[in-house]
Amino acid sequence: MTVKERTAQVLEENVGRYVSGADIASELGVTRNAVWKAVVTLKKEGYIVSAVTNRGYCLSEYSDILNMASLRKVLEPRYAINLKLCKRVTSTNSVLKVMAGKNAPEGTIIVAAEQVGGRGRYDRAFASPAGGVYFSILLRPDIPAENSLMITTAAAVAAAEVIEEVSGRKTSIKWVNDIFIGDKKVCGILTEASLGLGGGILDYAILGIGVNVNEPEDGFPKEIKDIAGAVITDDMRVSNPRSRIAGGIINRFFEIYLNMNKSMDFVSEYKKRSVVIGKDVYLISPTDTREVHVVDIDDDCRLIVKSPDGDTFKVSSGEVSLKLK
Ligand code: BTN
Repeated sequence: MTVKERTAQVLEENVGRYVSGADIASELGVTRNAVWKAVVTLKKEGYIVSAVTNRGYCLSEYSDILNMASLRKVLEPRYAINLKLCKRVTSTNSVLKVMAGKNAPEGTIIVAAEQVGGRGRYDRAFASPAGGVYFSILLRPDIPAENSLMITTAAAVAAAEVIEEVSGRKTSIKWVNDIFIGDKKVCGILTEASLGLGGGILDYAILGIGVNVNEPEDGFPKEIKDIAGAVITDDMRVSNPRSRIAGGIINRFFEIYLNMNKSMDFVSEYKKRSVVIGKDVYLISPTDTREVHVVDIDDDCRLIVKSPDGDTFKVSSGEVSLKLK
């Protein structure tokens, strides 16, 4: 373990209590200056440490620590077998795609504190600054490709429930993959499927989830500042929100996913939070835009919509997006 990791360990064992720099230094067999340097780095990583002359260092219980230990504290051990954590990556979905091509097993997970090439639906960029948490899960379900919509739906329910639990704030879901708090988007989900050789059946799916946990230090980038919001605001006192949100979503997602053939109860949780049911919306596909009324969401997570001429039909295509009128 490095001096930084060992310093973190001592601070974490004494959350809310002061430990003198001299005591940490002697326990670690290093200089007080080395301890001070470690604390400076830890602060940059989300540790809130106060330093008081003659008392030492004190780690606040409201820090936002995102490391293997903090994730493992939340994650069910059976979901943490192939877990990788990166400070910064291009895109967790892209990295996992390469690993999937090399036969990485179902349940391989990559978590990142920042993405520099984050991707959203329709090949759009997904701004992923430090402050949020971004992760992807490799799945190898034995289901037809068209059912991959259920993966996204299950993930949306998991994300909404866990964000509510950690923050105490109410969420809503815009079909199919956007989670909102009030009128601000706090989470996006992208499921990318790869078809097997015969076509039709999934070879694998990569489920990618990005959560704006905290507002970035310099605010959200200008291209999203009017639509994006943070789950945790400055006035809230929450400990380790990034680890709890990422770990919690992964746990809850697997709970739903592994029971999908027995229970579809999650669909009612989805419907409870849907902002589109009962609304008139624009249905936007690459070729046209039409106005429809959303009647319901069925058990396969498809939208049931009614056109102005009274036609009722179902929508499941990943190529369709909605805009509220
Ligand atoms: C969207 O809102 O259009 C979907 C955004 C999905 C973003 C997540 S962040 C983790 C994973 N890696 C990516 O590059 N994208 C997904």
